[in-house]
Amino acid sequence: MNLIRDFAIGFGLVAIVIGAALAQAGFFNGFGLGEFVRAFAGEYSRVSLDLAAFARAPLIIQIHAGSALAALGLGLVQLFAPKGTIPHRTLGYVWLGLMLTAALTAIFIRELNNGSFSFIHIFVPLTLLGIVGIIMSARAKRTAKHRGDALGLFFGALVVPGLFAFMPGRLMWQMLFGG
Ligand code: HEM
Repeated sequence: MNLIRDFAIGFGLVAIVIGAALAQAGFFNGFGLGEFVRAFAGEYSRVSLDLAAFARAPLIIQIHAGSALAALGLGLVQLFAPKGTIPHRTLGYVWLGLMLTAALTAIFIRELNNGSFSFIHIFVPLTLLGIVGIIMSARAKRTAKHRGDALGLFFGALVVPGLFAFMPGRLMWQMLFGG
């Protein structure tokens, strides 16, 4: 029963569809989907790094993006390195700590929707649920379920909101393209 994984994938897909629809409707004023696609298609193809944008961001965003990016790197190691070892377990808890930090800090970042929660906040409860699920399947030694939980959490609760973070106008975009 890979409930958590199915939820993660399902919510991820729904979030993408809703996000795309909102962007098309001009909800994000100034950084809609069209601009995003054009940008990657080459209109702004020149990458001009503005890492100082990170230093200018509020501390809570620095902690959020820093822990999420670290989770992205460590998550790749976890997925491909040998399993069942002590490093896998220890690094697994470190990874969950990073995911927890990313999720909890996200609660306090409310820039997209004028101080209220935005649709991206759906990933917060999703991540918390996923964290509980992946610990339970690991401790119960249910390997197949644990693998599904891990993939669901990595892609559904980290890669998908991570992709949103690179939308035009947002901090990660500014850092990559300088504008
Ligand atoms: C590699 C992964 C990620 C990166 C690089 C990233 C980066 C960022 C940045 C820079 C911001 C705030 C500034 C801005 O809007 O530009 C932000 C906001 C946010 N992030 Fe992330 N993030 C990542 C993963 C996550 C995850 C795992 C979650 C949820 C568990 C999440 C949920 C949110 C939420 C809810 C916001 C606030 C959106 C709003 O203003 O309404 N992010 N993220």
